[in-house]
Amino acid sequence: MKISFAEPALPAKGAVVVLVEENKKLSPAAKELDKQTKGAVKRAIAASKFVGKKGQLLEIVAPAESNLDRILLAGTGKDFDELEQQNLGGNVYGKLKNSGSSEATVIVDAGAKDLTVAAANVALGARLASYRFDKYLTKQNNSNEDGKPTLKAMKIGVAGAGAAKKAYGPMDKIADGVFFTRDLVSEPGNVIYPESLAEQCKELAKLGVKVEILDEKKMAKLGMNALLGVGQGSERESRIVVMSWNGAAKSKKPVAFVGKGVTFDTGGISLKPGPGMEEMKWDMGGSGTVIGLMKALAGRKAKANVVGLVGLVENMPDGKAQRPGDIVKSMSGRTIEILNTDAEGRLVLADVLWYCQDKYKPEFIVDLATLTGAIIIGLGHEYAGMFANDDKLAEQLFAAGTATEEKVWRMPLHDNYDKKIKSDAADMKNIGGRDAGSITAAQFLQRFVNKTPWAHLDIAGMAWSKEAKPTVPKGATGFGVRLLDRFVADNYEK
Ligand code: BES
Ligand code: MN
Ligand code: ZN
Repeated sequence: MKISFAEPALPAKGAVVVLVEENKKLSPAAKELDKQTKGAVKRAIAASKFVGKKGQLLEIVAPAESNLDRILLAGTGKDFDELEQQNLGGNVYGKLKNSGSSEATVIVDAGAKDLTVAAANVALGARLASYRFDKYLTKQNNSNEDGKPTLKAMKIGVAGAGAAKKAYGPMDKIADGVFFTRDLVSEPGNVIYPESLAEQCKELAKLGVKVEILDEKKMAKLGMNALLGVGQGSERESRIVVMSWNGAAKSKKPVAFVGKGVTFDTGGISLKPGPGMEEMKWDMGGSGTVIGLMKALAGRKAKANVVGLVGLVENMPDGKAQRPGDIVKSMSGRTIEILNTDAEGRLVLADVLWYCQDKYKPEFIVDLATLTGAIIIGLGHEYAGMFANDDKLAEQLFAAGTATEEKVWRMPLHDNYDKKIKSDAADMKNIGGRDAGSITAAQFLQRFVNKTPWAHLDIAGMAWSKEAKPTVPKGATGFGVRLLDRFVADNYEK
């Protein structure tokens, strides 16, 4: 969808969206429109339950005295904050996308102190809502009648359009990052596998990101047998991709993001049950977020040094696959007894985390992984689980989560949980039993970050959604891109 900004003026055609504050407080444009339509706006409000609450919409189709397709009244509620501005943009897009109108003008002239920033947020919300993964639908299932949106352009009318456009600039780059993540996560396992995902990362070179790919030979030389063991049953070769963005002084330590990229997780020899297995195409969600985050940061030229690492493997059952009971030596030198080949994400991350802290000596590491089903039992689809060995990092992530509505909730780490992954045969085992499954998984990861400040986000409940939200259509959510972009912006760009 094309988004533009202009000084506020009621259009002569298409759809027009005007704001109403709570208690039926019409914005200047809504009043003007009421006059132009000889009172149709006020009469519509009087004949409905619409009072201007946040999230409320009221549509007036083909109003008399005009050539407009429709008027849409949008409630701002009482305090029209950043997230509500974005949600309004998303809700308006959702209402109009299949309305038949091809263009809409949204007049932002009420409800917020800084209207130019509000206008930019409305635009961001609309753009995020406009995501659609329809590349595999052929014409017969992707026409305007069959769901392809009619709405092609949205013009935001605001006093100080130049300033609004400027405020929207970096937001648009963040949305580019979110879309990239959603695209990668939506793709099926026959299209996205370690090598093809690594190829996608190369796209970022256009934005000035340095992209380096480690192949199996290189990983074997480094001793990454934990990661390689997971991929050894697959016809597809494993990869690690390192993406570096240097937007700050050379002397400044980088901040690091690490992603689990299991492009398909069958469980391996500890095979998963058939029903629902298709969902495991999005087991590369952590890496998808890291890749989209790098796109967002580079796109808006973030003033930070950032390194993103993704461990890419496919977990398959095969004659060559790893067996339960196998013992592997990780890059750290520690040995791991594999009691369940379906607890593979931690094995991949063990080597990537170790390599990350050893080679890049980052200020901190944040990893993202669709790591455990147990985190969905604990937190559902509202919060990602957060584990951290550093309180400051945890607080910064929590704050960024609240600000972006990509929320994280801290879970505990403790030596007593760590004991659950002791093994008689090796330095540790890769599962800790049924109890506290997300925590023992995090304890496992913690063993590979050494002394580096670190946080782990278990996003198993967040990477994919079966329900649409105002700015997040169902399917791949892109969870974490906005959260971590904000986290970097608020804490590491000053
Ligand atoms: N990728 C899964 C976790 C997962 C489950 C993500 C559901 C998204 C939705 C992970 O590799 C896994 O299989 N974990 C096991 C661990 C167990 C064997 C200790 C799990 O959660 O059952
Ligand atoms: Mn698994
Ligand atoms: Zn997995």
